[in-house]
Amino acid sequence: MQILVLGSGAGGGFPQWNCNCDNCLRLRHGEIRATPRTQSSIAISADSTDWVLFNASPDIRLQLEANPQLRSEHGVRASSIRAIVLIDAQIDHTAGLLFLRECAQPLHIYCTEPVYQDLTSGFPILNMLEHYCGVVHHPIPVDGQTFTISDFKDLRFISHALKSKAPPYSPHRYDPHPGDNIGVMIEQVSTGKRLYYAPGLGEIEPHVLQAMLEADCILVDGTFWSEDEMAKVGSPKKAREIGHLPQSGPGGMIEVLSQLPKQTRKILIHINNTNPILDEDSPQRQTLTEAGIEVAYDGMEIIL
Ligand code: MLT
Ligand code: MN
Ligand code: ZN
Repeated sequence: MQILVLGSGAGGGFPQWNCNCDNCLRLRHGEIRATPRTQSSIAISADSTDWVLFNASPDIRLQLEANPQLRSEHGVRASSIRAIVLIDAQIDHTAGLLFLRECAQPLHIYCTEPVYQDLTSGFPILNMLEHYCGVVHHPIPVDGQTFTISDFKDLRFISHALKSKAPPYSPHRYDPHPGDNIGVMIEQVSTGKRLYYAPGLGEIEPHVLQAMLEADCILVDGTFWSEDEMAKVGSPKKAREIGHLPQSGPGGMIEVLSQLPKQTRKILIHINNTNPILDEDSPQRQTLTEAGIEVAYDGMEIIL
């Protein structure tokens, strides 16, 4: 199985257009050892020909140009993306669908019922796409059942509900529904190799830890280093409150990941521009390295 990190940043990317936090300023001034990051998305293939896109980021146009594997020259209008899985209805994971509107066929979109509701009400992009390429919605189960995607005979997918957060425009924002956010295990049938992907993860419930223990590689929420990190940019929002478990502190992601086998590849993704781990020379980044935790970057390729 081949995994391409198209975008490793959280909403806003790195640097964020209006942000003068320590990281964004130093990146623009060339004063930090760090690389820019586009917004959150990955692509997966079992045969290097057909790809499943996980999340459609607002940066998708640049991401597709940067990753020629995802393009196809078979036809005057063509792509190697056969299906799109959405793990929530947040802007950074869905707005890119609008930039796929030139598709010659309807987009095959796999998402849960609450996400489908958000994308046809609070943020009605699926309705809008009906005026362009159209969409075919395939429901995703949220109770740990397996689902398949046609064209991907060698991959199977297992999804479960996560405690994170529906977006501000969701009718469920203050009334959480199972499936507002999901984690997905992607298994290659012929090799048995497993990737666990959960870029928005607010709490480690028993089924989440179990999935992490069963995976060969995990790509999980790396949004914030600390609970009050957004205070640096004048926001009172706490990490857990907005659905992201921070890395540091008691019960934080570093502690969680330390329970996994040494051979499991542990990679953080969806990293917010305020996070000190983006600075490759920071003590926080050093702490991760010592704990055997990697930080995803745009263009990272993982082979399982
Ligand atoms: C989040 O996951 O909380 C988002 O990145 C927020 C956003 O896109 O504004
Ligand atoms: Mn996000
Ligand atoms: Zn910033």
